[in-house]
Amino acid sequence: MDTAQRFRGFADTEARGHSPVYERLARRVASERRLLELIDRLPEPKRQPNLLLAAARLLGGPIGDARAFPSWAIAEWERLSAVMLARLTQTNEAGRCATLMPLLASLPQPLALIEVGASAGLCLFPDRYRYLYADRPAIGAGPVSLACRTSGPVPFPARPPVVAWRAGVDLNPLDVRDEADMRWLECLIWPGQDERLARLRAAVGLAREDPPRLVRGDLRDDLGEVLSDLVAQAPAGATPVIFHSAVLAYLPAAQRASFAAAVRDLPGHWISNESPGVVPGVREALPWAAPAGRTVFALALDGRPIAYTGPHGEHLDWFA
Ligand SMILES: C[S@@+](CC[C@H](N)C(=O)[O-])C[C@H]1O[C@@H](n2cnc3c(N)ncnc32)[C@H](O)[C@@H]1O
Repeated sequence: MDTAQRFRGFADTEARGHSPVYERLARRVASERRLLELIDRLPEPKRQPNLLLAAARLLGGPIGDARAFPSWAIAEWERLSAVMLARLTQTNEAGRCATLMPLLASLPQPLALIEVGASAGLCLFPDRYRYLYADRPAIGAGPVSLACRTSGPVPFPARPPVVAWRAGVDLNPLDVRDEADMRWLECLIWPGQDERLARLRAAVGLAREDPPRLVRGDLRDDLGEVLSDLVAQAPAGATPVIFHSAVLAYLPAAQRASFAAAVRDLPGHWISNESPGVVPGVREALPWAAPAGRTVFALALDGRPIAYTGPHGEHLDWFA
């Protein structure tokens, strides 16, 4: 797929229905030969539409004016490409905890959580959020409320899970105390998604009270040793849970398979929340196909599918 197709595909399948501003911008970029030539000089993983658009927002580009955007981007290419080269798409969505929480609460408590691809670690606090599942009474308390639609026999717990210990691994851990890192996370939220922005700010405020422990590590290398070191540090009596959401798609298939094999060998449990085809064996075991045209993740426990989830935690559809 060439870069023009990539931007058009982004407009058609990702931005349409979610962000008219990004849809218009992505289409415009797809038709601007000079800008496409500049983008093509970047390494392939740096040509992501999301990365370009977030970098442009960081620099105060004319996001709302698709006509003016290409000439601005060309004139500012040096600064724009420097941000794209320095940064990664690391969207950290605390809302995903609403889809993980009932499963986490169903495991033997307390938990020792280890998140792979943790970004700033906002999903490492499932015990500190307040959950609103349709018309049920809130579960948990605190300044960050996570609303989530549900279907199927979700095992709603009376309270959130108990987390005895938490740590994360990331290619580039972000620091909730670092203003530049947090500004970048804000730019990764699409224009107009005000609820997500408010949630991010609230979750960052909460995480700043007790920042999570995050270590640098690359899933493309063998992370078996890093993960078994972390598991070994978990307090005795806590159930180790290695989990990840919206991460494995960044790896080639062979590396996903070796990661899955390494995690299966570790003590405790493994929770994945990824696009259905991404975790080896999950798609084949799904009880029903997700509705066409709807982007969903598959939530799985130890490789066994449990539910479909909304990619930002919008819904949780538990399998019977
Ligand atoms: C889309 S973010 C998701 C963050 C978080 N899991 C969440 O659900 O909010 C993907 C994260 O995976 C990390 N990542 C991507 N490739 C990685 C790799 N090879 N090794 C470790 N982390 C990686 C990125 O740095 C980024 O922080």
